[in-house]
Amino acid sequence: MICNNLSINKAGHLCFAGQDTTELAAKYGTPLYLMDEDRIRERCRTYLVAMREAFDERATALYASKAASFKQMYRIMKEEGMGIDVVSSGEIYTAVSVGFPMEKAYFHSNNKTDADIAYAMENGVGYFVVDNREELDAIEHLATERGMTQKVLLRLTPGIDPHTYAAVATGKVDSKFGSAIETGQAEQITAYALSLPHVHLSGYHCHVGSQVFDSDVFLRAAAIMLDFAAKMKETYGYELEELDLGGGYGVRYLEEHPEIDIAANIRQVGRAVKEQCKALGLQLPAVRMEPGRSIVADAGMTLYSVGTVKRIPGYKNYVSVDGGMTDNPRFALYHSPYTVLLANRPEADAPRFRCSVVGRCCESGDILQENVPMPQDVARGDLLAVLTTGAYNYSMASNYNRIPKPPIVMLRQNESFFAVRRESFSDICQNDL
Ligand code: LLP
Repeated sequence: MICNNLSINKAGHLCFAGQDTTELAAKYGTPLYLMDEDRIRERCRTYLVAMREAFDERATALYASKAASFKQMYRIMKEEGMGIDVVSSGEIYTAVSVGFPMEKAYFHSNNKTDADIAYAMENGVGYFVVDNREELDAIEHLATERGMTQKVLLRLTPGIDPHTYAAVATGKVDSKFGSAIETGQAEQITAYALSLPHVHLSGYHCHVGSQVFDSDVFLRAAAIMLDFAAKMKETYGYELEELDLGGGYGVRYLEEHPEIDIAANIRQVGRAVKEQCKALGLQLPAVRMEPGRSIVADAGMTLYSVGTVKRIPGYKNYVSVDGGMTDNPRFALYHSPYTVLLANRPEADAPRFRCSVVGRCCESGDILQENVPMPQDVARGDLLAVLTTGAYNYSMASNYNRIPKPPIVMLRQNESFFAVRRESFSDICQNDL
């Protein structure tokens, strides 16, 4: 199986985190998001331990909470000792509501409004990851009003193409994010930040993209950032305290995707960063990484009930489910691959046919996956599982067609419980007047 939290029991049913998916579907209904909490915790520890070993005790991982943001996630991160990356006042609100220690929160976004900045300051957000000069002005102004000094990292674009899909590549010079080293804007914003009395420049941040497999991408990004840091030390006498290397590693959606050894990769980055700091005469900064996808992706699965099965002779076959682009827009947006199985009979030996697994929305683009092999006799009432849906599914879900969002059921040490309850029709209408 693609991931070791999947198995098949004696009844021939797909199990996730050791629990029978057919029983979970019967108990909680479909569509249903499942999250393996033990797996999430394991992944946090992998990053934290590896980073401390590779760099030093100050190094830490920040969970990029855009990947899956709900209260239980921030509780887990608090308990595991992770920092968090937040990108909106809504994420800040959710983290604060469960008592997350906000001094460990890093506030991103290419366009923070004055209201966002004030809200983050009021809630004690530790760091702002500053995108641009106007944001620095707003921070200086609002920090002065509050008689405080705000710690910031500057988001810089190192000019690297991470060879992932365009929508998630962010570190190129031509990007809506950050200030480019290549154009001199990174230097300008550094000098400007150093001139502001209510801004404390803690260091630099970069993020080259998401779903990155090339292990040298982080090495190249770190090298460019440290060269820049050394130049700033020489020019302005400013030495960075923190270096944030951005998002985490890619994950396996299909069997043929490579499995990344996260700890080994981090050790490699650690060795390179330490050597380069020495060569450039820099102190080793406190290093941060911001994994989102690799913390939660394979801790997630979505279960659906099969409805209409349509065979169009000479054309295509369609298997419809009771969810779709509303709970998982990633195929519609990025053509993202997923592994799809029949959970009630994953090893059915009936001859296979190829189909598109489609949702229930009123649009043809509502596709979860194309070219999926299914048993020939797949029929209404079968239970279908889409694997590896823990990242960027719930967090990107919508109410298109007024379809309620599925609940999130956490699986923890052979128990299951709601982390997010099923949305009702009245929830959907609650702001309608
Ligand atoms: N840090 C920053 C500044 C980011 O922009 C991101 C992701 C991360 C960290 C986390 O990266 P990860 O470890 O998850 O690769 N909706 C898209 C993904 C957008 C990613 C945006 N930034 C998707 O569904 O593939």
